[in-house]
Amino acid sequence: MSSKTLVIAGGTDGIGRALGLAYLRRGDLVTIIGRNSAKGESFLAEAAALGAAGRAHFIPADLSLVAGARSAIAAVRERLDQMDALVLTARHVSSHRQVTAEGFELTFALYYLSRYLLSHGLADLLDTAPRPVIVNVSGPGETSGDPPWDDLDLALGYTLSTALSHGGRLNDLLAVGWGLHHPSARTRYALVHPGVVATSFSGTYDLHTTALIDQLRRTGAPVAEAIRPIARLLDDPPAALVSAWAQGSPLPLTKDAFDPAAARRLHAITRELLT
Ligand SMILES: NC(=O)c1ccc[n+]([C@@H]2O[C@H](COP(=O)([O-])OP(=O)(O)OC[C@H]3O[C@@H](n4cnc5c(N)ncnc54)[C@H](OP(=O)(O)O)[C@@H]3O)[C@@H](O)[C@H]2O)c1
Repeated sequence: MSSKTLVIAGGTDGIGRALGLAYLRRGDLVTIIGRNSAKGESFLAEAAALGAAGRAHFIPADLSLVAGARSAIAAVRERLDQMDALVLTARHVSSHRQVTAEGFELTFALYYLSRYLLSHGLADLLDTAPRPVIVNVSGPGETSGDPPWDDLDLALGYTLSTALSHGGRLNDLLAVGWGLHHPSARTRYALVHPGVVATSFSGTYDLHTTALIDQLRRTGAPVAEAIRPIARLLDDPPAALVSAWAQGSPLPLTKDAFDPAAARRLHAITRELLT
């Protein structure tokens, strides 16, 4: 099998990191993008211990900023002229509404906008690979109906769980919109729900939520187990241009959660926000 080139946004921890190391062990080339330089260096040290120093690369970037996502895309493009897979795992949740220096709500900016930018901004590098795939690890199919069009960055009624389910819904529509804008792409777009996995759960939590998150860290599935169905999609991309999966099982793209009209509308609003 010839080696693959993977780019993992959010590869410094959790599912992204575990996938990165698994593919380095197989002999592939892995570029991770993350915010925490110490974690990036630790990934590179582990790569070196595996004898894969020359196949691992770390791009430090704050993906919650549009400027950060754009600079990460530029850094990937400077380094690679083709890639087989883009894996999207960066997320940071917060008990309280936070606004980035660019004025966007943090979850909206990181969980949705950065994935929009990376998915569209690296599409051409993927499409010349033999069997390219974008794997967006999020929470597909968990919500339905229209997003709050007049309050996309949740200025009204923010809670941590609203922000998460809202972000999941926007990613469902991102996938559908990506398919509508790249109808003849060779690249497949797969949304993946990993289930509850014992990871770092990057976030800023109040006391009550900290206790809940600690419990998830103790009871979630081991990361090594959670990455298996994701690796299957990376190794053998689905036939459908856009698909959604929960722990290895396909999810139906119901009109309610994956509505093409809503996806077009979100795409247009996002383009406007980013100009
Ligand atoms: N774990 C679960 O139970 C679960 C359940 C459902 C869905 N998911 C989905 O699975 C994906 C991966 O989750 P996980 O639990 O593996 O994640 P995690 O352990 O919380 O790691 C999150 C990653 O995002 C990166 N990140 C956070 N803020 C960033 C920023 N501003 N700029 C760049 N990178 C940033 C972190 O990098 P630094 O550490 O370098 O900051 C880290 O690499 C997420 O998209 C999540 O929606 C997870």
